[in-house]
Amino acid sequence: MSGNENRTLYELLGGAETLSRLVEAFYSKVQQEPLLSPLFPQNIGPVIERQTMFLTQFFGGPTLYSDRHGHPMMRARHMPFPITKERADAWLGCMSEAMVEVGLPEDLKAFLIERLRGSAYHFVNTPEEE
Ligand code: HEM
Repeated sequence: MSGNENRTLYELLGGAETLSRLVEAFYSKVQQEPLLSPLFPQNIGPVIERQTMFLTQFFGGPTLYSDRHGHPMMRARHMPFPITKERADAWLGCMSEAMVEVGLPEDLKAFLIERLRGSAYHFVNTPEEE
């Protein structure tokens, strides 16, 4: 991604409009993924809202999430949920498909997924065999 050194990932992916479409597409996949859907509430709207604020800031945009909710402490916020490596991979799979669906270029998609993979694996808190 040479020539883009001064732009944030948030700008590169298309800003608020694309991010909003991405998060919507992502949770509709999460809700159809048997490994993930049982962890999430039926009323997904508030989750979509918090995730949109979080990813805005995670990708270098305005600090919407921290402004509203304080320090992200994302691993701690995930502790109530049994997150296995398999679930982390399912989460990344839904995100990857959502990125294709909203039309992100392949190289940008790969870069963003690598960034998210670090976090997703860091949130694993439960061994595979439950
Ligand atoms: C590794 C697999 C993951 C699983 C299974 C998972 C699952 C969940 C669940 C069950 C919730 C709570 C929904 C609710 O009831 O409010 C949640 C919230 C959230 N997750 Fe994840 N998550 C994963 C990875 C990630 C990653 C990689 C990120 C971003 C880097 C992320 C960002 C968030 C955010 C921002 C929230 C809302 C936190 C809040 O309540 O303020 N999650 N996640």
